[in-house]
Amino acid sequence: MTQDEMKQEVAQEAIKYIVKDTIIGVGTGSTANFFIDALAPIKNQIKGAVASSVATADRLTSHGIKVYDLNEVDSISVYIDGADESDNDFNLIKGGGGALTREKIVAAVAQKFVCIADESKLVETLGNFDLPVEVIPMAANYVKNEIISRIGGSPKIRENFVTDNGNYILDVHGLQILKPKETERAIDAIVGTVTNGLFANRGADILLLGTNDGVKTLSLKRS
Ligand code: A5P
Repeated sequence: MTQDEMKQEVAQEAIKYIVKDTIIGVGTGSTANFFIDALAPIKNQIKGAVASSVATADRLTSHGIKVYDLNEVDSISVYIDGADESDNDFNLIKGGGGALTREKIVAAVAQKFVCIADESKLVETLGNFDLPVEVIPMAANYVKNEIISRIGGSPKIRENFVTDNGNYILDVHGLQILKPKETERAIDAIVGTVTNGLFANRGADILLLGTNDGVKTLSLKRS
């Protein structure tokens, strides 16, 4: 099975987690795009969606799915999104597509976070994938130097890229993230950081993993 076929299968499986007549949150990226396509035929079962990026909002709208501004919404029943890496405790690295900040906001509001990914994304230790950090443009150099001294790794500004929020992304190479919650907080504490791609303090609740033998459902009880 190709990676895209696995992504398509988990995207289809995620439809089972939709709560009827509610507003759901929708992530960004190729796996989330497959989910949006799977959602289209059953769009009348939900009130609509909050999108985690302009690209996702455009795709939802093109399928005739109503997109809500987060400020108009009281609650989000479930957030469905991909990831760049997940460890066995469902701590994630996200933001390969640069949408990490809005993704983290929608995930924070959602009652449940269902992460959809192909099996290549499951790792023992996070960090092989460069960790994205969204920064206010004028602070890019400062945050870069502070990450080197406080966290380690080699941050590099993502070239020719501006986020939906008008900011820059630093991709931090060479980290081995043994304490994801602490690292997430430590990076957020650097002035000029908007958010970072570690989703550990609010990780996924359910991980749907596409494998050659079908979709594996892994779930975690968070305290
Ligand atoms: C977008 O900013 C990311 O967080 C994506 O969720 C992540 O990069 C996964 O993307 P794919 O589904 O394309 O692998």
